[in-house]
Amino acid sequence: MSTPTKVVIDLDIPGPTINRHLYGHFAEHLGRCIYGGFWVGEDSDIPNEGGIRLDVVEALRALDIPNLRWPGGCFADDYHWRDGIGPREQRPSMVNSHWGDVVEDNSFGTHEFMALCELLGADAYVSGNVGSGTVQEMSEWVEYLTRAGDSPMVALRRQNGREEPWKVPFWGLGNETWGCGGHMRAEAYADLARQYATYCRDHGDHKLYRIAAGAADDDLAWTEALMKAIGGLGCRLSAKTRFQAVSFHYYTHAGDAIARTPATEFSAEQWYGTLQKGLDIDRVIRGHSAVMDAYDPERQIGLVCDEWGTWWSVEEGTNPGFLYQQNTVRDALVASTHLDIFHRHAERLVMANIAQTVNVLQAMLLTDPDTGALVLTPSYHVFEMNKRHQSARRLPVHVLDGPRHESEEHSLELLSVSASTKDGTALVSLSNLSLDTSQEVALDLRGLGFACDRARVLTADEPQAHNSAEQPDRVRPEALDVRVEGSTLRVTLPPHSFATCELTLS
Ligand code: AHR
Repeated sequence: MSTPTKVVIDLDIPGPTINRHLYGHFAEHLGRCIYGGFWVGEDSDIPNEGGIRLDVVEALRALDIPNLRWPGGCFADDYHWRDGIGPREQRPSMVNSHWGDVVEDNSFGTHEFMALCELLGADAYVSGNVGSGTVQEMSEWVEYLTRAGDSPMVALRRQNGREEPWKVPFWGLGNETWGCGGHMRAEAYADLARQYATYCRDHGDHKLYRIAAGAADDDLAWTEALMKAIGGLGCRLSAKTRFQAVSFHYYTHAGDAIARTPATEFSAEQWYGTLQKGLDIDRVIRGHSAVMDAYDPERQIGLVCDEWGTWWSVEEGTNPGFLYQQNTVRDALVASTHLDIFHRHAERLVMANIAQTVNVLQAMLLTDPDTGALVLTPSYHVFEMNKRHQSARRLPVHVLDGPRHESEEHSLELLSVSASTKDGTALVSLSNLSLDTSQEVALDLRGLGFACDRARVLTADEPQAHNSAEQPDRVRPEALDVRVEGSTLRVTLPPHSFATCELTLS
């Protein structure tokens, strides 16, 4: 047991609003995310609505997921949307060359995705094809989806059974255009982004929020090229600014990115190495924000992290191109600490999408289309426990002399905390990154009175613990005992744990 760490939280000094879209998700045509995950088809024995698996929808609705990014990823720049509309039996097939080299029959397309968003109550974030598509193709997709009244694309949509336009708030201009999306140079892509964005029109009063494909990790030069393309250093942003946000991607892994390690087997140093790598996204966001501040001091352009999460070697016996991995307490803490960091950058960071929702990388859900099993992962529980941070106002948090892990290889803080307030309530999230030591925390809650309505903790007997069809609840939230002493809330965090305290303020 460590000596108590004091954490001061000012309940009466609300800061910026935490954009609910920081809790966004991502679904690519990759492995069993769409097919065998969201989509089982209308003829399946698994209860579905129009082919969409209903228990998956129900589980995700409990997370209040704000937006869903689709169809990729790398797949987006191979995808031709017209192949995915009309009668399914007439849709052409294609090879999904990025992911497993399998044949994609396009049975899940535009209408199916929009139906999924409607079932989830989530906003659509569509990633258009810059790498192998055309400006006309993307322009017509926007028209097909969002235009009311009469037009050639509206007529086509009507022919396919949909009268009303949909709302598609978010539009991606390609994906990883420095890599799978075309291996472009930054300046060349920046010009293309302007061009594509120009023809992704606002139809009527439907407004698109256009997101330029951004950097890998801390490639700040990429962000700078995009910011230059929008305006110019010291100039007000052009009224003709064509994209409203720039993105970046950041994945967490232990050790070499190519020779990835298993999700469920790791040493103590790999545990700390992973968490340190995850925490480093704070430096990366600060870097991109500083570049953006120089060009856009008024923060009109949003920063979007539209792919993040852990990336391990695939589960034994599964297709290496399907990126199917397990999810342990370690993944949960990567998620909780990322979310803390996202809250801290709420002034600039407007959206984030964990990769990917079902059966791929750091998934919320693991499914088996043959047995019908559905497993909630530890990462799922973090999103559920944290959901009240969405659209809440961040509260100032000061951790005073928190514990650290110091070794030859790694150096990191072991306590991560964030807090927010909304509608007379507050939510405090705490992560104990110590592998083997519990932490006593004294939360000094200043400025307002409080009652703690509920405290929960997510942990397990060992950090490698994970959920499976055989043991679906090995890692799940349990009630946590807390003690109130005046304005101090005392909490004991078990080793490798995540906890939330839900407060009513007075
Ligand atoms: O999420 C898996 C892949 O990772 C995405 O398709 C790509 O954008 C990234 O490299």
